[in-house]
Amino acid sequence: MSERALPRHVAIIMDGNGRWAKKHKLQVALGHRKGVEALRGIIRESSDLGIEALTIYAFSTENWSRDKAEVEALMGLLLEYFSSEIDELDQNNVCIRILGDKEGLPQKQREAILRAEERTEKNTGLKLNIAINYGGRAELARAARVLAEKAVRGEIRPEEINEQRLAQELYTQGLPDVDLMIRTSGEMRLSNFLLYQCAYAEFDFPAVLWPDFDVKAYHEALEAYMHRERRFGGRVS
Ligand code: FPP
Repeated sequence: MSERALPRHVAIIMDGNGRWAKKHKLQVALGHRKGVEALRGIIRESSDLGIEALTIYAFSTENWSRDKAEVEALMGLLLEYFSSEIDELDQNNVCIRILGDKEGLPQKQREAILRAEERTEKNTGLKLNIAINYGGRAELARAARVLAEKAVRGEIRPEEINEQRLAQELYTQGLPDVDLMIRTSGEMRLSNFLLYQCAYAEFDFPAVLWPDFDVKAYHEALEAYMHRERRFGGRVS
């Protein structure tokens, strides 16, 4: 086994907030709130370690089907997040990008995320990508639609459409592929997250619930990644 460098791009499915709340006999909204606290530590650590990109799944296109009260709590938390964290993120040179369908979000949330993106767009530190109203299949369908429209307008020939051209139309345009995908709470599913970008990702499924995922647990996942042999379809050298 050879020791590798840190991942350039880490993606996280922050799973287990609901179970954490239940375990502590609290309302689910408090689980999500605790999840935001855990997130704060992981973002800071990613920045300090010099990781290039961190992509987190905050709200999927499927999450709209949850209880009205939970959806409202999550939307409220998002709004709160962009007003309470933005100063520190900006000071730490973090560049925020939202992945997902912004048009499908309530106006307040849409405005808050646009402001956060605009304010941090020139920052050169950690690229923090927050997936909100995001679905991997919808992202691919959207990219196909954009390319088809370009072809109809004569801006691109169908035979020029290849993996690179497709990647350029994804929300993650310009970012490296995901190196390490972490999903907490022991669930082992991708749940429609970054389907294209995870083609060669390494996966880690720590049993810990997201609100309990601390810097120590993060280091363990990174250490495990650095000791893995990645082959990208080739043979071990
Ligand atoms: C999964 O836990 C988590 C979510 C659906 C939302 C994750 C959101 C946050 C951590 C907070 C909002 C984010 C930001 C950036 C403000 P679950 O509720 O599915 O857990 P369960 O499977 O135990 O029920």
